Amino acid sequence: MSIFRIRGGRSLAGSVGVQGAKNSVLPILAATVLAHGECVIHNCPRLSDVEHTMEILGYLGCKIRQEGRTVWVDASAPTGCSIPDELMREMRSSVVFLGPILGRMGQAELTYPGGCELGPRPIDLHLAALRALGAEIQERSGRLVCKGELTGGSITLSLASVGATENAMLAAVAAKGTTTITNAAREPEIVELQSFLRALGAKVRGAGSSVIVIEGGDPLHGGEHTVQSDRIVAATYLSAVACAGGEGELLGVDWRQLSTVTAALVEAGCQVESGSNSIRIAVRKPLKAVRPIRTAPYPGFPTDAQAVVMAALCKAEGATVFVENMFESRYRHVGELARMGADIRVEGRVAVVCGVPRLFGASVRAADLRGGAALVAAGLGAEGETEVSGVKHILRGYEDLAGDLAALGADICLEEEIVI
Ligand code: UD1
Repeated sequence: MSIFRIRGGRSLAGSVGVQGAKNSVLPILAATVLAHGECVIHNCPRLSDVEHTMEILGYLGCKIRQEGRTVWVDASAPTGCSIPDELMREMRSSVVFLGPILGRMGQAELTYPGGCELGPRPIDLHLAALRALGAEIQERSGRLVCKGELTGGSITLSLASVGATENAMLAAVAAKGTTTITNAAREPEIVELQSFLRALGAKVRGAGSSVIVIEGGDPLHGGEHTVQSDRIVAATYLSAVACAGGEGELLGVDWRQLSTVTAALVEAGCQVESGSNSIRIAVRKPLKAVRPIRTAPYPGFPTDAQAVVMAALCKAEGATVFVENMFESRYRHVGELARMGADIRVEGRVAVVCGVPRLFGASVRAADLRGGAALVAAGLGAEGETEVSGVKHILRGYEDLAGDLAALGADICLEEEIVI
């Protein structure tokens, strides 16, 4: 069994560059299916989800090459329009291929995506968006059979879903005519997808606001793009310094994307200084509880940062209330933090963290990606040794968590199980 082994209780000091954003690169790679030429994507994080996405592209008949963190995709002559079940199950975001495959090939056949770790994650909004553009979708014993020539239309999302907005944008670029997406998600990953699509010649505007307008139907050409840094990885490292104390500098990050996270950390007593392309955090005194943290769509507090900030507040003086509004089952780290001595009570979507003077090292298990990262961060601020298992969940989102935290001064290593 692989584990992260952490010797906690020492304050941090160091500097680290932040990897490319997982949630940006996946829809961007899916978008390459629409290009009648070669796309070059730089700063792709080396993650299993990226590998699975490249496998899907290969399966669809795209030519792929990778050198370091640069990936070349040539979708000049795709041959497939279906994705096998084993690849669909690997990750939730595989569903974002539906729009581009349908748009490019006029048909698509997929199974339901995997990734149910946060409670039920329906795809009804994705399907409704594609139907609004004229797709005929049949759901037959776990398979989605889709066909139709898409035409521009009006899509109103009942919920500002990130994935459904991406799928709708990718389908709309291929649909003849004008599409308007209302109540679109406003996450930075949506803005980035727009800039990639524009680099391929698409006419898209409005990303970052809740109305996106797309003039679709013209074939796209190849293009080049550099993936932005991962705001959730940055939030994790800021929280890790907040857990352990000391100071740290994150390089290559856009502080504007992190303002709700840094506001909470500043309220707790951290000093945060933002530069044009970096953030510094210093934690010189015990933290205190903050006003309620409610997760919300961007620009609200990100659900993906809830667990790591909770870890940082376990030792804060007073009580902090968390309200998880995005996903039903996103407190699976709480029971494990309790093993380390945290005092947290959960009632439905609400968690109340009562600060304790110290945490203790323990053997804990990650049940999901960000919850797992929270256990690692908490381990840095705990006395003694912590072992975090369930490592595969954490590695889905962090290229080199142990190496990056070590660069920030942490005593941590990843002990990998050797399978013979
Ligand atoms: C994306 C991110 C994930 C982040 C989430 C919210 C990726 C790969 N993942 O996930 O890290 O936590 O945004 O910021 O980018 N919903 C429906 N029907 C649908 C789609 C969504 O009811 O068809 C609901 C979901 O159950 C959830 C809410 O909408 O309660 C938001 O989900 P959504 O924004 O779609 O998240 P993802 O795109 O899956």
